[in-house]
Order: sequence, then C-alpha cells, then structure tokens
Amino acid sequence: MKTINVTINGTRYEETVPVRMLLVDFIRERLALTGTHVGCTYEGVCGACTIHLDGEAVKSCMLLAVQADGHEITTVEGLAKGGELSALQRAFRQHHGLQCGFCTPGILMNMTEFLVHNPTPTDDEIRQGLIGNLCRCTGYVHIVTSVRAAADELARTGGA
Ligand code: FES
Ligand code: FES
Repeated sequence: MKTINVTINGTRYEETVPVRMLLVDFIRERLALTGTHVGCTYEGVCGACTIHLDGEAVKSCMLLAVQADGHEITTVEGLAKGGELSALQRAFRQHHGLQCGFCTPGILMNMTEFLVHNPTPTDDEIRQGLIGNLCRCTGYVHIVTSVRAAADELARTGGA
C-alpha cells in the first residue's frame, strides 16, 4: 500500500492505494468518477479511459494510481466549468457526436487536448487525432463534424 496525493478536477485527495491499482480503477472505484470508462479490459486500445494528466491526454488504464502521486488530473467531469459545457461538449450535443455515448468521455478528453495543440485542424488531422479512440457505434462522421464545429467556434470566439 502507498499513500498518494493527487488533485482531480481541482479537488485534492490523499488516499492509500494498493501499489498495483490501476489509475482508471482508482478514479472510477475509489473516487466514484465513473465518467471515465473502461472499454477494452485494460488493453490500451479503446481510449474510453482517457483523462488529462498535467494537461496531457493519457489512457488511465495504462498507468498505476501511484504514478499519479503529486500530479493534476482532469476527468470528463471536470470539462464543464461553472455548469457551462465546454465548446467541444456543446458541439457534440449539437452535431450528434454521440450515439450510446460510451466512447464519448475519452474522445472529449483526447480532442480537448488535441485542439489546444492544433486549434485549426483539417478534417484529416482530426481523423488522425482520433486514431486512439474506438467508437463501437461507428459514428465517426458526426464525431469529426463535432470536433470541426468546436474548432471553428473556438477560432471565432477565442475562448473555451
Ligand atoms: S480501457 Fe483504457 S484504452 Fe481501453
Ligand atoms: S457512441 Fe457508442 S461507442 Fe461511440
């Protein structure tokens, strides 16, 4: 067992965890932040478990909870600010970027970081950016449209 300190969505947690506990299990089971999903039995291929670790999109099933010690995490629950959805979340709602929604939290986290680094992407670049996220409903056309719309809105408003 090891005690870790981690800040998640602005809240600081001090928790004692088994050293082999996966970060995704810590987030979901210990902290009940169940917006982060597990879609591929911890194989690192589906992207449903994507979170931000110090601002970088990572697959939380590929990390141990103890590796998050001293770091800042954002989960999908932290994307909306003050009850306001982010531009990307609004675009997914408006452009039908989700069907069952299982893949959506991971895609939102991945594409939020993607748009920070590439605020004016081409559709091909968006598709490339989505390569680590599987959507079993295969709604990729609407997902790309949603990311495109969010990029356009961010460019227009210069905001989040
Ligand atoms: S559960 Fe982490 S990549 Fe699938
Ligand atoms: S919307 Fe169902 S898995 Fe993507």
